[in-house]
Amino acid sequence: MEKRIPAHISIIMDGNGRWAKEKGHERGYGHIHGVESVRKVTQACVEEGVKYLSVYAFSEENWSRPAEEVGFLMNLMMDAISREVETLMKNGVRFRVLGNMERIPSTLQDAIRALEEQTAGNDRLTLIVFLSYSGQWDILQAAKKMAMEHGTDVSGVTREDFGRYLVTAGIPDPDLIIRTSGEQRLSNYLLWQGAYSELYFTDILWPDFGGKELHDAVEAYSRRDRRFGGLSKKEAGDNQ
Ligand code: IPE
Ligand code: IPE
Ligand code: MG
Repeated sequence: MEKRIPAHISIIMDGNGRWAKEKGHERGYGHIHGVESVRKVTQACVEEGVKYLSVYAFSEENWSRPAEEVGFLMNLMMDAISREVETLMKNGVRFRVLGNMERIPSTLQDAIRALEEQTAGNDRLTLIVFLSYSGQWDILQAAKKMAMEHGTDVSGVTREDFGRYLVTAGIPDPDLIIRTSGEQRLSNYLLWQGAYSELYFTDILWPDFGGKELHDAVEAYSRRDRRFGGLSKKEAGDNQ
């Protein structure tokens, strides 16, 4: 059977803190190694021919963590941006950040915008970082934007129309959502866009996740039977 490659893989990168604690380190040590995993998985996606890789890096709810950890994560993002430019350009990766930018420090906002512009012409893979994001926030901001444009004249609005107000406008819905570290929940991730995503949960902690683990997830995905509420290909055939 031909291996099916998902066009869009999305990852809830979880378990950095536990990984660090297991090794007797502070949580930040896990976040640093988590960046390495993003690099490895990006490379693996380029090799597999995946067109979109998105990662949940920081949720809206993560703002409730101690200021020290939040600051550490923002600095780490800043560092990663300046260090990864060359590799992204070399691999033809377009970089995008989606989320509620209002609370992001302005220096980081500027660095993000600069890298988005610099990589805008790359088309081998699009790497999307969800930062200060939550699915409920996304749906709410979309509804507000739509109301600004349509007023109360919304009777003809379709799901496709609504999707154009979400921050993911123009990006295909994720075919596969992976969550690491054994937790089996969405934690307010892509609530609209993930309606028919295949879910893949693994106990591996994010800093231990790399190319091989991504490959295993794609393998599992290619054995799934996606029915979208209809019948599987086999059943549809039997019923003819
Ligand atoms: C995921 O790792 C990264 C972020 C949410 C920023 P965690 O920091 O949630 O690590 P655990 O889940 O506490 O181990
Ligand atoms: C989800 O992880 C958010 C990210 C991976 C960025 P959390 O660690 O914040 O999720 P909960 O709190 O365990 O649900
Ligand atoms: Mg966590």
